[in-house]
Amino acid sequence: MSLTFNGSVVLAGAGKMGAALLAGWLERGLDPARIIIQEPNLSGAALDLARKHGIRSVARLEPQTEAPAVIVVAVKPQVMDEIFPALAKIAGSETVVMSIAAGKTLASFERHLPEGSAVVRAMPNTPASIGRGITGAVANAHTTATQKDICETLLRAVGDVVWVPDEGLIDAVTAVSGSGPAYVFLLAEALADAGVAAGLDGATAKQLAHATVSGAGELLRQSSSDAATLRQNVTSPGGTTAAALSVLMKEGHGLKELMREAVLAAQKRGRELGQ
Ligand SMILES: NC(=O)c1ccc[n+]([C@@H]2O[C@H](COP(=O)([O-])OP(=O)(O)OC[C@H]3O[C@@H](n4cnc5c(N)ncnc54)[C@H](OP(=O)(O)O)[C@@H]3O)[C@@H](O)[C@H]2O)c1
Repeated sequence: MSLTFNGSVVLAGAGKMGAALLAGWLERGLDPARIIIQEPNLSGAALDLARKHGIRSVARLEPQTEAPAVIVVAVKPQVMDEIFPALAKIAGSETVVMSIAAGKTLASFERHLPEGSAVVRAMPNTPASIGRGITGAVANAHTTATQKDICETLLRAVGDVVWVPDEGLIDAVTAVSGSGPAYVFLLAEALADAGVAAGLDGATAKQLAHATVSGAGELLRQSSSDAATLRQNVTSPGGTTAAALSVLMKEGHGLKELMREAVLAAQKRGRELGQ
């Protein structure tokens, strides 16, 4: 993948997620001269990258800043309304504005921008910080195929990208992949705790559980088989795994039902926060 579009990129907000994107873009060869960071207190990883690559950073965007190809908004949702007036002033008719803020709707950006502006709402997840994220994204009706390509190229710098056809599905994306890493971390914690219950010391149980979760995740990624097949492959009838799965897959009270309940709760909360 190469970042081959024309024009500049403004990154508004260079905290954890903004810095991860920035690192991914630079790794994939985006010319640092085409990036402007807008951030009042540049620090941490983004500051290091900006210094190392000589990237221009400004506390505020001035109206005379040339219209960029894309403005990536990576500030906290509560800061969004504060920064949009300045962003709107530098956006040109060809600019696409892409936000990664949780819960902020397309309409909430559109109302700050001229009629007909291209807007993309994206929801990455924390493995983006190691280039292994997945982002669900939706574009408004004014976004051209080329603008979608630009956004996808920028997001692919930190992992996979899935477009959903309808903004209503972003809460489902958030509930599955946005919040999903926390469910997997909980699984690692629960497995370690269970190891202690089975008699292992805490450190050994943790080591076994962490390596199992990350190794199984990597196997799932590298294998051509789906998760159900990989599970069946390690389950011999009457064996130890089967004994555990009979508990985890108890009819009506198993992990699948619990996960469904959890994901629907996250989706519901996402809808409430988006109102
Ligand atoms: N982290 C995730 O896993 C994740 C996943 C999906 C979506 N997101 C979304 O990504 C966005 C950023 O999250 P994050 O975790 O990267 O948060 P973060 O680390 O707090 O980054 C936000 C950055 O914006 C800066 N900022 C504050 N006011 C600003 C202004 N007026 N103009 C420009 N920059 C300003 C903050 O600076 P100060 O620290 O000085 O205030 C901070 O560096 C959020 O909207 C979040 O919903 C995050």
